[in-house]
Amino acid sequence: MKVGIIGAGTMGSGIAQTFAQCDAVETVYLCDIKQEFADGGKAKIQKGLDKRVAKGKMDQAAADKLIGKIQTGLNGICTDADLIVEAALEVMDIKKACFKDLQDNIVKNPDCIFASNTSSLSITEIGAGLAKPIIGMHFFNPAPVMKLVEVIAGINTPAETVEKVKDIAVQLGKTPVQVNEAAGFVVNRILVPMINEGIFVYSEGIADIEGIDTAMKLGCNHPMGPLELGDYIGLDIVLAIMDVLYKETGDSKYRACPLLRKMVRGKKLGCKTGIGFYDYSNGGKVPVDKK
Ligand code: 3HC
Repeated sequence: MKVGIIGAGTMGSGIAQTFAQCDAVETVYLCDIKQEFADGGKAKIQKGLDKRVAKGKMDQAAADKLIGKIQTGLNGICTDADLIVEAALEVMDIKKACFKDLQDNIVKNPDCIFASNTSSLSITEIGAGLAKPIIGMHFFNPAPVMKLVEVIAGINTPAETVEKVKDIAVQLGKTPVQVNEAAGFVVNRILVPMINEGIFVYSEGIADIEGIDTAMKLGCNHPMGPLELGDYIGLDIVLAIMDVLYKETGDSKYRACPLLRKMVRGKKLGCKTGIGFYDYSNGGKVPVDKK
C-alpha cells in the first residue's frame, strides 16, 4: 500500500510514522505546501527514531527501514497513492481545496481512498462538491503511540469504504471505533470541553495550574492534567474545536473560556510556541503562575 499524508506538522508526521512502521505499507509520501516543511516533518520523525535507537528500544536497521519508506515533497508526488490522509490546517476551505486538487490534478489511482484527520469539522462538508467520497480517519497525538482511530462516515461515504478504513486501522495496530458524523465526534466532544472547564477552574482562581493538573492526574488516573494536555494538543486547536462545538450546536455549554481565547490571541499556544499554561523554555516545564 502507498499512502499520502497531506501536512507534515505534529499530526501529519506522527501519522506518517505510524504508516511507515506497518509492514503492509511500502511507501509514505509526506507532503506539505513547501518542500522544507515536508523535510522538517521527516527530520522530526528521524529525531524520535534516533532517541529510540539510543535508548535500545529499536534497532538501527528497523529505524532505517522505517525512514527509508518516507518520501517528502509537495502534494503532487501522491499520484499512485492508495490512500490519502489529509492532516492540513483545521480550515474548511483549505481542506476542500486540497482534496479538489488531489482529485482533479494529482491522484491517478481511481480506487484511492480520501481520508481526513480533521479533529471536528464535518466530513460531509469537506466532501461536498467532490466526485470522490471523503471519510474521517482521526488519529490521536502522539499518533504512533495512541491506540485509537475514530472512523467517521459522512452522509455520502459508502459502507465499503468505512470497512476498508477500519481494516487499515487494524493493520496499523490500532483499534478503530466507528462514529457517526457529529461535531467533535466522540473523543473531542468529551475531552475538549473538559480541558476548557479546566481553564475556567484556573481562571476562577479555584486552584493553581499544577494543582488542577495534579488533581486530575491523581484523582482520575489521567496521564496528563487538562492544562498540560491543552498545551500538548495546542491551545489554538482546543479553541478551534470549542468554537466548532458551539457553532454547530448553538449550545452555550460549549462556550470557550475567555482566558483560552486571550491566550490564543497572544500566541501562547502551549508546547508549539514554548509557552502556554507552562513555560517550556530551556527544555523545562514551569507553570506560568509560579514564575
Ligand atoms: N512520537 C512517538 N512516540 C512517542 C511520542 C511521540 N511524539 N511521545 C511519546 N512516545 C513514546 C515514547 O517513546 C515511549 O515509548 P516506549 O515506552 O516504547 O519507550 C512512550 O511513548 C511513552 O512515552 P514517555 O515515557 O516519554 O512518556 P509518558 O509515559 O509520560 O507518555 C504520553 C507520554 C503517551 C504522551 C502520555 O502522557 C499520554 O498518553 N498523554 C495523553 C495524550 C492524549 O490524551 N492524547 C490525545 C490528545 S487529543 C487528540 O490528539 C485529538 C486531536 O484531534 C486534538
